Amino acid sequence: MPIRPPKTAAIPLSVPCITGNAWKYVKDCLDTGWVSAAGKYVGVFERKICGYTKGKHAVAVSNGTVGIYVSLKLCGVKQGDEVLVPTLTFIAPVNAVKYLGAEPVFMDCDNFMNLDPVKLEDFLETQCRTEKSGVVNRRTGRRIKAILLVHVFGNPCDIAAIMRLARKHRLKVVEDATESLGSYYTDGPCKNRFTGTIGDFGVFSFNGNKIITTGGGGMIVTGSKAMADRAKYLTTQAKDDAVRYVHNEIGYNFRLTNLQAALGVAQMEQLHAFIEIKKRNYRSYAEHLSDIDGITFLGAPEHTSPNHWFYSVLVDKAAYGRDRESLMVGLERVGIQTRPVWRLNHLQKPYSRNQAYKISRALWFWERTLNLPCSVSLTGGDIRRVCGFLGKLCRR
Ligand SMILES: Cc1ncc(COP(=O)(O)O)c(C=O)c1O
Repeated sequence: MPIRPPKTAAIPLSVPCITGNAWKYVKDCLDTGWVSAAGKYVGVFERKICGYTKGKHAVAVSNGTVGIYVSLKLCGVKQGDEVLVPTLTFIAPVNAVKYLGAEPVFMDCDNFMNLDPVKLEDFLETQCRTEKSGVVNRRTGRRIKAILLVHVFGNPCDIAAIMRLARKHRLKVVEDATESLGSYYTDGPCKNRFTGTIGDFGVFSFNGNKIITTGGGGMIVTGSKAMADRAKYLTTQAKDDAVRYVHNEIGYNFRLTNLQAALGVAQMEQLHAFIEIKKRNYRSYAEHLSDIDGITFLGAPEHTSPNHWFYSVLVDKAAYGRDRESLMVGLERVGIQTRPVWRLNHLQKPYSRNQAYKISRALWFWERTLNLPCSVSLTGGDIRRVCGFLGKLCRR
């Protein structure tokens, strides 16, 4: 049954929380006329992201998708190359691979919906050969250039294992950290390091549904000053002489505006508080959902501190008496907006001919995952209401 987004769901899936200094900083842009990318807030926002995540260099861009595109480009991904991507993700990072004329090869996920390092290793060891120029996919004969991983719904990937594989096979790593700003590792080789700062590049998104928002926006983070300078150059129209309009390369108009950055600075001042609320709500959901048969609340990977951006439940049709689809419709009827996990990318029309390697767990998640309301403004009463209906709608 098709579902139209309700105009005003009583409890929407996700709405932004625009408070603090947002009005003040945006008004400052309007009052001073500094509205486009040259204003001071762009640099302040970049420094705030570096300060919070301990990333070395940050470049603010117009959205996460172009941030991923530019990062892949700077990794040397070109026409005819391949990039290893998870099938279970929003389609944007996969499209970014295609914008470069490269091909995605789809990988399965682990128990937290993140790229599975075990199958990734299996693929690299059994399906590829190493040549002087790098790793080549035996089936397609194409060179594999990079791994594009996604920290799904804020849960950090097993990045230490993925980085080991990447270094062994001389592959670049781009972290799609669009959903995981503020998530970090609490133990292991990446202890105290934030998602988005470990691979060659990390990318955050500030789309309206993210943990902080600038309406639309993104940030590239990298440990390399040279790469950050390149990213800034390319995203500001490749200006070699800004006064005399000299451009020695084809650049892009991909920079974030000062207006958006002003909002970003105000939101960054609240990020810590937002994450604390998300954590509290995560614990509250976990408690209220613990005794509903057939509903499993997805936890966090060991040794990580996620930002808990989204809350996912897994619906076991046999035990719950309804499937995920029917539960989503039932909740919609009582004004509670929920959404399934994305349709898997190897099943999407533009990618149905691309290679997909031993996909099984992603199919399992796709069938049963439902994301619950997760706004920062969610109250304890809202959570009790959502969980109450989840209990009531059970058909067993
Ligand atoms: C996993 C993932 N990657 C990439 C993007 C793209 O980010 P943006 O909307 O800022 O282009 C999003 C969400 O919007 C996302 O959820």
